[in-house]
Amino acid sequence: MDKFYTTTAIDYVNGAPHIGHAYEKILTDVIYRHFSQRTDNAYMLTGTDEHGIKIQKTSAEIGISPKEFCDMNAQKFIDAWKLLDINYSQFIRTTDEQHTKAVQKIFKKLLEKGDIYKNSYTGLYCSGCEAFLSEKDLDEDGCCPNHKKKPEVVSEENYFFKLTKYKDKIIKHIKENPDFIVPSFRANEVLNQLENIEDISVSRAKTNVNWGIDVLDDESQVIYVWIDALSNYITALGYDTENPSEKFKKYWPADVQVIGKDILKFHSIYWLALLMALDLPLPKHILAHGWITIDETKMSKSLGNAVSPKSVMESFNMTEPDAFRYYMATSAPCGKDGNYSDDDFKEKVNAHLANSMGNLLNRTLSMLVKYFDGEIKAEFIKENELFDKAKRTIEEVKHHFDYYEVAEAAQKIVELVDILNKYVTDNAPWTLAKEEKMTECGQVLYTVLECMCIVVSLIYPYCPTIAKNMAKQLKYDINTKLDNIKLSNIKEGKLISKEEIFPVFLRLDSELATNKK
Ligand code: ME8
Ligand code: MG
Repeated sequence: MDKFYTTTAIDYVNGAPHIGHAYEKILTDVIYRHFSQRTDNAYMLTGTDEHGIKIQKTSAEIGISPKEFCDMNAQKFIDAWKLLDINYSQFIRTTDEQHTKAVQKIFKKLLEKGDIYKNSYTGLYCSGCEAFLSEKDLDEDGCCPNHKKKPEVVSEENYFFKLTKYKDKIIKHIKENPDFIVPSFRANEVLNQLENIEDISVSRAKTNVNWGIDVLDDESQVIYVWIDALSNYITALGYDTENPSEKFKKYWPADVQVIGKDILKFHSIYWLALLMALDLPLPKHILAHGWITIDETKMSKSLGNAVSPKSVMESFNMTEPDAFRYYMATSAPCGKDGNYSDDDFKEKVNAHLANSMGNLLNRTLSMLVKYFDGEIKAEFIKENELFDKAKRTIEEVKHHFDYYEVAEAAQKIVELVDILNKYVTDNAPWTLAKEEKMTECGQVLYTVLECMCIVVSLIYPYCPTIAKNMAKQLKYDINTKLDNIKLSNIKEGKLISKEEIFPVFLRLDSELATNKK
């Protein structure tokens, strides 16, 4: 693998980030960090989507300029991702000058090519979707099924993009590449939508929407927000219709673009058509994740149940985001919906991270200090069949990540930790010590510590801080690439002293959890 490029959806800044947004960014960050363990050239893009009627209206309601409003809210996303240790390479805002200029040129190129043309139009516009809907998209009350709001009747002269020209090519691509849409069960949905597509309006009259990127040489129109937003994946890398940057040539096409299932149509139809029109290669995979619900109900502003990642961190008094990252990343099988609940969160991370993984390291190192003054003796170092299991786990985890099965990969790590715990219980090093079988006792401890180095590498993408703290105590190089891991990390000699041992994850306190908000 010579490079890896992954992107997230860019969030609308009309509100503050909630844990649904956080889920996507964590999922992508875990994928990004995993592939960083397989190539030196991994790149992750995230950012904010700042144009459109929704932002224009919300900023007007609170009486500040749209740009001030965007600046204020974009910062909330930047802060949230910092809190969650999202290690993105780049954060793009669609109000960035480089982006707006590149989008204008993209539009111009398609106009010159004849893929964009002018037409007058009457349609039903949902500002929640930032999209025109057709009659058959609406529910029985005539509302948008996603936003439960009646769309507005809009009558304008607009520019249109010849989506229909690319219909057959898109269908062919999806059919010939069954792993293009992940999970593949969503491909049929897209193929059905493709049956009924029409050319789409790609501009809005400024008399109706003025918060957007101007069409070059036409002062009456702004570019449709989805054309603007989708372009971010290439403009961020420095794509330019005349002179694409080195970075663009290096990273494009994306390896995986992570988005929610609600915007799959935009990414597997509109985005592909746009790239085809620009004669650019297509992304290798689109990962459509499911929804995060709160206590099994949909999160929304109107229900007042949107939970911010910050409030979760604060209510559990967490100084590091690892437990929340772990919980979110493993909350649903690939592409399925997941749920957040305080009780489940506490129970799961206490069990997996504190009781199983953290305690295993802690008690193994403590026994090494108690029986051997923290020293690994030459006779402890011996092959063990568990090493094969550990090596197999690396391959299994890699395999799941090849299919972006982030929760499934974590399950393999948990299984390895369970096997190691069982090995300790079965071999009872404390009994061996009592019976003065010191070499055997040392061999058991050594075997566990050696395998724990692998656990450290594998858990790192989910829990970077916990992994670093485990690595520190094992004197293990956390930057080891997955393909270079050898089972010879624990060396003869003093490994650790009593003072250097510390728990890597403390159980979430149940009292704190109930005193929240
Ligand atoms: O759609 N659970 O922005 P957005 C899981 N700007 N994911 C969720 C979620 C939930 N409860 N709520 C939202 C947009 N998301 C556009 C994207 S990309 C060129 C433009 C996900 O702020 C949602 O599915 O409405 C999407 O992938 C992302 O958060 C941003 O949603
Ligand atoms: Mg949305």
